[in-house]
Amino acid sequence: METTETTLFQLRWLIEAGADETIGAEPRNRYQESAKKASPTSSPHAAPKAGPHAPPKTEPRLATQPSATAPAAPAAPETGSAHSLADAAKNLEELREALLLFEGCPLKETANLVFADGNPKAKVMLIGEAPGAEEDRQGLPFVGPSGKLLDRMLAAIGLDRRSVYISNVLFWRPPGNRTPTPAEISACLPFVERHIELVDPEILVLLGGPAAKTLMGRNDGIMKLRGKWFEYESRGMSRPVPTIASFHPAYLLRSPIQKRAAWADFLAVQAKLRGNA
Ligand code: URA
Repeated sequence: METTETTLFQLRWLIEAGADETIGAEPRNRYQESAKKASPTSSPHAAPKAGPHAPPKTEPRLATQPSATAPAAPAAPETGSAHSLADAAKNLEELREALLLFEGCPLKETANLVFADGNPKAKVMLIGEAPGAEEDRQGLPFVGPSGKLLDRMLAAIGLDRRSVYISNVLFWRPPGNRTPTPAEISACLPFVERHIELVDPEILVLLGGPAAKTLMGRNDGIMKLRGKWFEYESRGMSRPVPTIASFHPAYLLRSPIQKRAAWADFLAVQAKLRGNA
């Protein structure tokens, strides 16, 4: 087959398989792109447009990229400002506002902020991975299919959204629901840590590998991390928080055989809440 024919064949195959969107692995900042198009450089007083006689075009620089002449920028400026923004938040509303101002996570250019749901005074705080399509639409965590399963798991131990508080390690949906990158997770981490400090739960439940690894500071997989109590500590917390990891409900939907282990984890949470563990 000719290359064009092969490409067309592959495209047709993808369309028939249900693909209705093309996306890249990295989010594109389309707001910035359209702002650039609409910028005053297109006005009658603008600098000459690129053309055969135009001066050589220099690549636009992000504020955080080191320039040839400027002194080297700090290694992770976004994280630095994330820390100061997050630490300055005195309550959950201020933390939410700080996230709206935060420019260090490009995901926010392609998705809506999904901050939290449930009762901020709850004893139990659950932290998942990242919002999906339905969460992005509604601006609330765990409202799609995995959220429905999570609600059933909570109900099985006598809890619901009035008695727990729910958030994620990422506050914006990664394009196409891909796995969050380490850079995205560390950009959001200061906010997640502050979130936990402000909620000050009695028990923390981490759903899935990314949340467990990030907040337990471990490299092991979820199979190894789940079902064991661990103490979460951070600079701003007066005491360590008993923490347990379990399987992510989305994984349980794909691998129902693991529901038995997740059930044991949730029973451990119930026993801890009742003071029997
Ligand atoms: N999966 C998550 O980890 N979080 C959500 O909010 C939804 C799905």
